Amino acid sequence: MKKVILLLTTVFALSLMANDGAGLYKKCIACHGVKGEKKALNKSQVIQGWSKEQLIVSLKGYKDGTYGGAMKGLMKAQVKSYDDAKIEAVSEYISTLK
Ligand code: HEC
Repeated sequence: MKKVILLLTTVFALSLMANDGAGLYKKCIACHGVKGEKKALNKSQVIQGWSKEQLIVSLKGYKDGTYGGAMKGLMKAQVKSYDDAKIEAVSEYISTLK
C-alpha cells in the first residue's frame, strides 16, 4: 500500500511540474478574480477557500456535463481542453489562494 501511495505521489508531483497551475489559472482571472474571490459573472459561487478535491470534482463535472448550474456550458468551454493533470494543477493552485 505504501508503495502505491508513493507511486501516486510521484506521478502527481511530476504532473504538477509539467503543468503550471498559476499559468493555467490566468484565463480564469477575468471572471473569478485574481484570488478566486469573485462570483464569476455574478453567477458562480466564490471558489476561494474550496478544497482541491472539491475543485477537481466540479471541473471534471463541467467537462463531462455532470456538474453545474444554468451557465455550465460556459465553464465546459473553459475546461474542455484541460486533461486530468491540468485540472489537478489548476485546482491545486486555486486551493492555495487567500
Ligand atoms: C467567462 C467567465 C468565466 C471564465 C473565464 C471562467 N469561469 Fe469558472 N465559472 C463561471 C460561471 C458563470 C460559473 C457558474 C457556472 C454554472 O452555472 O454552474 C463558473 C463556475 C466555476 C466553478 C464552480 C463554482 C460553482 O459555482 O459551482 C469553478 C471551480 C470554476 N468556475 C473554475 C474556473 C476555472 C479553473 C477557470 C479557468 C480555467 C474558469 N472557471 C474560467 C465563469 C467563468
